[in-house]
Amino acid sequence: MKRKLSSASRRTLLKWGLFSLGTAFFTTLPGAINAMPGKGIKTLTFNADDIGILNFALLLEELESAFYVLALKSGKISDPKEYDYVQAIGNHEATHVTFLRQVLGSNVTFHTNDLRFNSSGLNAVLKNRRTILKTAVSLEDTGVHAYNGAGTSLKNPTYLLAAGSIVSVEARHTAGVRGLLNRPSTELDSERAVSDADLVPQLNPFKGRPYDELYTPKQIIAIVSSLNILRNPINGPLVA
Ligand SMILES: [Fe+2]
Ligand SMILES: [Fe+2]
Repeated sequence: MKRKLSSASRRTLLKWGLFSLGTAFFTTLPGAINAMPGKGIKTLTFNADDIGILNFALLLEELESAFYVLALKSGKISDPKEYDYVQAIGNHEATHVTFLRQVLGSNVTFHTNDLRFNSSGLNAVLKNRRTILKTAVSLEDTGVHAYNGAGTSLKNPTYLLAAGSIVSVEARHTAGVRGLLNRPSTELDSERAVSDADLVPQLNPFKGRPYDELYTPKQIIAIVSSLNILRNPINGPLVA
């Protein structure tokens, strides 16, 4: 089924320079996407302060937003209701990107166009409906762990308000997509990317399915790296 992308989705594709590529994207990739790391690819640096944390959140939102655009574009989500659902989530992500860029203003440290995909990693996550929805769950759960984990370090109350307004929506996203996969609405301990042994104790006095554990930015970066979809090197005190 061929359905129309929303204007927000179209904008995201344009930002990533992918819109005109259409389905050819998966077979013929432009040089920028295949480029070797380091050469012409911006390193993303995150400082251990409010600005660094919000830019870090922005990176996660950019990834989510781009992922849903590509998921819709892949043609692998064929059920109309499911397509609409994924599109609605994707629109939320595009809104989160715009919102965080507005909140950050001139403190934004990277542009959407600075981000680079890994084609083989993308092909793997976009392979079929199941890989797409499983990746969506991973991204959404990671978002929840990330906002909760970094939120405790935010000093500016306005930033904290912004983060709190988003994290609850991310939690609904993960519950919704989990529902599409007939999985429980909250993570099983065995599903968590960070095991009990590796959780930072002072961040996690409460653990288990009724709670959302708090991950450090460094742990979040490890999870994002394992998805193998982003090529930009990442560094800075926040993720050290
Ligand atoms: Fe989001
Ligand atoms: Fe989300």
